[in-house]
Amino acid sequence: MSNHILLLLVAVTLMVIEGSTMGLLSYSVKPLFDNIFVEKSSNMIGLVAIGIFLIFTVRGISAFGQRSITVTIGLRVITDIQKNIVRHLLGLDSSFYSRNPPGALIERVRGDSQALQSFASNALIVFGRDTFSLISLLSVALWVDWKWTLIAFIGTPLLVFPIRGLHILIRKTTRRARQSSADISNRLNEIFHGIKAIKLNNAEQHEHGRFAEEVRKYLKVQSHSEYGKAALPSMIDIIAGAGFVGVLIFGGQQIVNGDKTIGEFMSFFTALGLLFDPIRRLSGLGGNVQAAMASLERIYALFDEQPTIVNDPAPKTVTNPQGDISFNNVTFGYNNQPVLRGISFTAPAGKTTALVGPSGAGKTTIFNLLCRLEDVESGEILIGGQPLMEIDIVDLRNQISVVSQESALFDETIHDNIAFSRRSAEEDEIETAAKVALVKEFSDLQSEGLQTLAGPRGSNLSGGQKQRVIIARALLRNAPILLLDEATSALDTRTEQKIQHALETAAEGKTTIVIAHRLSTVRSADIIHVIKDGQVVESGSHEQLIALDGAYKELNRTLEQ
Ligand SMILES: Nc1ncnc2c1ncn2[C@@H]1O[C@H](COP(=O)(O)OP(=O)(O)OP(=O)(O)O)[C@@H](O)[C@H]1O
Ligand SMILES: [Mg+2]
Repeated sequence: MSNHILLLLVAVTLMVIEGSTMGLLSYSVKPLFDNIFVEKSSNMIGLVAIGIFLIFTVRGISAFGQRSITVTIGLRVITDIQKNIVRHLLGLDSSFYSRNPPGALIERVRGDSQALQSFASNALIVFGRDTFSLISLLSVALWVDWKWTLIAFIGTPLLVFPIRGLHILIRKTTRRARQSSADISNRLNEIFHGIKAIKLNNAEQHEHGRFAEEVRKYLKVQSHSEYGKAALPSMIDIIAGAGFVGVLIFGGQQIVNGDKTIGEFMSFFTALGLLFDPIRRLSGLGGNVQAAMASLERIYALFDEQPTIVNDPAPKTVTNPQGDISFNNVTFGYNNQPVLRGISFTAPAGKTTALVGPSGAGKTTIFNLLCRLEDVESGEILIGGQPLMEIDIVDLRNQISVVSQESALFDETIHDNIAFSRRSAEEDEIETAAKVALVKEFSDLQSEGLQTLAGPRGSNLSGGQKQRVIIARALLRNAPILLLDEATSALDTRTEQKIQHALETAAEGKTTIVIAHRLSTVRSADIIHVIKDGQVVESGSHEQLIALDGAYKELNRTLEQ
């Protein structure tokens, strides 16, 4: 920050120099007219010419210096803001991401901060340079004749209210335009991710229509904002024109009377003429400030978002990761829609527990709660007798390997996707995980082997291949708690049997919870909990539950198919 301030000081100094050249330039018009043109003394020509050339040179150099510096500062500040937003976003809960789609968030990280950046550098330059130009030119005008100056600016107070109105309009329309821009990014994101579904459903026309509608909305609000910005300098023009005419009538008379020299009159008008540009730009700046504020508000709103899933003020490390996992009377729901209604069960230490139940029963939700991706509303979860809420979240997640239902691959190599779970892993450990999870079976067919790219969100791989990469990732993590959410659902029977075997070996000595819809997986579990309507309705081994002739037996019929 301190070197920003130092650079800024240099930039401001250069702006003062650049701004002052404007005053000097208009001032030099007086000797040009009075001494050269009126008195006709040609020996002054060279001197004034050199002077004017020097002024332009100084102006050029200082302009280059201050522009480069301010743009660099602007860029640095904005990239810092982007880094901070992303750090902040990484810390927010998954519920935040359910509310804010990726496309819109990308627009906020990139678009809003870029809008701010172009404004910041531009504003600094305009504000710095033009203020000093204004001061120097105004000094020349006042020096020539303060009454003329007063006449030239007499109309400006009339502008206060219209300008205020325009500012409000610009702020409002820009705010809408930024939101609209986020909606556009969101649509694009949905289109590109859903391209296959769009094609298969012949929905190209429909999607194009939706996109066109978003663009139309954007066009409308953004153009209103631009009209507002364009109107500001134009109003200045009209009022300035009136001032100009006033001075012309009043001052022209004084020259005719011989009270003022032509040089003074020309110098004044040069200053006044040159004053227009900085005044227009400065007044336009007000509009740009409003537009930038709209982006800034949106960035601040992101920083205002706070994670609700946070560490205990005095978090503890896991004391007994190899202990039993218990849910005691846990309730939870999304958006006030209850999912778990006082659920209680135990997954015994070192054993394999299966959770079965119909789709939407809340099985994946149980995993989310255990990893603290969501927090319970009431009740308690214990690991080895220790309440989940007092455990440091990072430490908690270090104890858990998850194979989740949704494939969570990145646009990186298969190798890096596996290593993602333990980035310090040795090469041979990654190789072993890839082998055990049968990733090698398909990666070896590729010339690049494990270095083959998985594609955006793993799209270069088949469903079963993705699942195997994710299993390899979980094996590599090798944590004491293993959570498998339909880990093998996308595999053919032969591959599933092989992986099942590998998973059983990996699960040895670990507290494992499996969610499965296939009998083969469930049957071998040490204990099975049947979940229905947000509660455990039956618990026991496969044989016990069949003998019970209840919900499990009923479910079993579907499992068998
Ligand atoms: N992020 C979310 N926001 C809102 N509701 C959700 C969210 N995730 C899940 N739900 C709802 O919670 C309920 C339980 O979902 P969950 O994913 O736990 O089911 P499940 O038992 O794993 O089902 P399946 O066997 O189909 O995977 C469902 O009704 C679902 O619609
Ligand atoms: Mg699920």
